[in-house]
Amino acid sequence: MKLLEKLKTNQEKKKALAKHYISKEQIKKTAKENSRIIKELEKQNNRKNVPEEEYLTEMKNPNNVVEFDDLHAYFFTDAGVVKAVDGVSFDIPKKSIVGVVGESGCGKSVTSLALMKLLQSPTGQIFSGEIRYNAKNGKAYNISKVPKIDMNKIRGKEMSMIFQEPMTSLNPVFRIGDQLDEILFLHFPEITQEEAKQKSISMLNTVGIAMPESVYSRYPHELSGGMRQRVMIAMALSCDPNLIIADEPTTALDVTIQAQILDLLRNIKNDINGSIMLITHDLGVIAEMADYVVVMYAGRIIEKGTAREIYKNPIHPYTIGLQKSIPALNLNDETLYTIPGTVPNPINLPNFCYFRDRCEKRFGKCNGEYPKLLQVSPTHHVACYLAEEIAAEFAKTKKDGGEKNAKK
Ligand SMILES: Nc1ncnc2c1ncn2[C@@H]1O[C@H](COP(=O)(O)OP(=O)(O)OP(=O)(O)O)[C@@H](O)[C@H]1O
Ligand code: SF4
Ligand SMILES: [Mg+2]
Repeated sequence: MKLLEKLKTNQEKKKALAKHYISKEQIKKTAKENSRIIKELEKQNNRKNVPEEEYLTEMKNPNNVVEFDDLHAYFFTDAGVVKAVDGVSFDIPKKSIVGVVGESGCGKSVTSLALMKLLQSPTGQIFSGEIRYNAKNGKAYNISKVPKIDMNKIRGKEMSMIFQEPMTSLNPVFRIGDQLDEILFLHFPEITQEEAKQKSISMLNTVGIAMPESVYSRYPHELSGGMRQRVMIAMALSCDPNLIIADEPTTALDVTIQAQILDLLRNIKNDINGSIMLITHDLGVIAEMADYVVVMYAGRIIEKGTAREIYKNPIHPYTIGLQKSIPALNLNDETLYTIPGTVPNPINLPNFCYFRDRCEKRFGKCNGEYPKLLQVSPTHHVACYLAEEIAAEFAKTKKDGGEKNAKK
């Protein structure tokens, strides 16, 4: 009897383990299928001499600088397809700061890398959807269709990126000045050595670096973390971009320097008269800086709206949880709130609300299919069954208002 029981338990254990392993055959099959898709997508990306008309488009709203429209960005790995960004749509209006917030791994960086067309290829690919970009020359480009070679016209001159960790983004063996000058030579081939040096020094001055001439000839390791981040911002600014993407620009810095860098970014936005896509997992930073906020969870947008709406009137239980987990000095609670559980595996995501297993407010309906993104005000959208009532009320008020106006 005991032996039988032992055998049964061993079999159950094997079954449980098998769930976490992928067979060789399965890996082979997935790799074959992936390679077929990747080949097709890479063929499109690597095209040369493509007439511009093929990737020109029209903005839905000319007041936007970027429009993400049902963007799907995937990684085709042997373990399966990682749907890092799975149907994301939002706009970055001109002269605004749009904050993208969410837990680690929710697809914030992948969204921005897709916009710059810097996804780690060949595995990382924009699978479908449009990213419309309103360029300085008045043309609108569909970034998803722009071949890699032509992206060089847009990157740097039109949009540039500030990364999380400046030490890994700066080349340790070149002086700061050489790295700044190089960008200028790349984008303005006619510029002289002396002109490049003067412009680089003036950029260092703009980002608040004391003794810019001296910093110009130093190596990255001779600067503090805050100074290095300022250099990164100077680099991002040197070609007068229309849009700056700042991916966790202050995470590696201490609180006082963080505040200075955020101030600098705010001033710079006004100076360049452009927009900023600010990526962070800190809702506090967003509240201080952003005009609009996009909250992501497991590759999808679960709530978006103006910063005021997201901060004062969050609806999705995840956004509410994020807000509760911001440390506050004036609270007496000894333990800080944490959202229980973890994000689901990005391969094989379930067919119901991805937040369901962590949600304290789940109810019967939440076992149904993934909730649609509902409009609860002209600018506020939420993907949660709890938002349905609010959305219905909003629709009713709109209808009543419309009828009253018609009667007048
Ligand atoms: N090169 C890659 N290969 C496979 N999967 C990847 C790759 N890069 C990112 N991913 C996956 O894509 C998903 C989204 O990653 P992303 O880097 O956008 O997260 P994030 O929101 O920026 O997180 P963080 O706050 O930690 O920076 C994650 O599940 C991640 O594991
Ligand atoms: S749909 Fe249901 S489970 Fe998902 S966040 Fe809303 S209440 Fe929670
Ligand atoms: Mg990231």
